[in-house]
Amino acid sequence: MNTFAYEVHHPELLTLRAAALLASITTMAMGARNVAHVAFSGGATPRALFKLLATSEWQSRIPWARTHIWWVDERCVPPGDPESNFGMAQALLLRHLPVMITHRIRGEEHPWQAAYLYERELVTGFNLWAGALPRFDLIFLGVGPDGHIASLFPGSAAVAEQKHRVTVDNAPAPPHARVSLTLPVINHARNIIFMATGANKGPIIKQLFYTDSDLPAARVRPTHGHLLWLLDEALQKAASLPLLHQCQ
Ligand code: 6PG
Repeated sequence: MNTFAYEVHHPELLTLRAAALLASITTMAMGARNVAHVAFSGGATPRALFKLLATSEWQSRIPWARTHIWWVDERCVPPGDPESNFGMAQALLLRHLPVMITHRIRGEEHPWQAAYLYERELVTGFNLWAGALPRFDLIFLGVGPDGHIASLFPGSAAVAEQKHRVTVDNAPAPPHARVSLTLPVINHARNIIFMATGANKGPIIKQLFYTDSDLPAARVRPTHGHLLWLLDEALQKAASLPLLHQCQ
């Protein structure tokens, strides 16, 4: 069994826990560097987190004025498209924030142009010298039932990309063309938090936690950072994971 740090929560508590971790990590980043860089994934799981962060109660808990919001990946569609990860964040969270610094992946461009532009934005946003990797304070990841993360899909060359910070991959499900951070960037983060919910992901979590898998999700191993899985109870049961502890 792989030794992944994980917590099991009721779905609503899982969202609260993710928001609390975002608040503490960004606050610590302010104390250390007076800036924070956070990257969000797309898909359905982050929706509840975005809605919670948009509430007046939570808005003041995140130092948004100096927190740079990035995306782990994007579908190659315009920002107003229902499939856009930026569009989802804009609708559920960003439009409610009085101040924000966003670096969206320009899904409306040609995929490789969008990847080039995003890589350039990483270089300027993190003030990187040639070849250096951006060090995110926090990256939120989801996991697909096939073990993909970000837009890095099993068996694709994009999973093995080591040279570039941003790449293009093709998703089995439409919209097929996607732009994604690469694993070297993801694994360079100070903190990586997976949020995974639902019994349907039981098989993939079992495979990741109990076997030596080479799936993209198994390759998420921060080089010098922290990795935490936040799972809901349905998924813990479906994956037959021991209950290390459960927050009531
Ligand atoms: C995307 C995401 C993707 C997502 C997983 C899990 O653009 O779709 O970045 O990697 O995190 O597919 O998606 P769910 O949260 O919908 O299960």
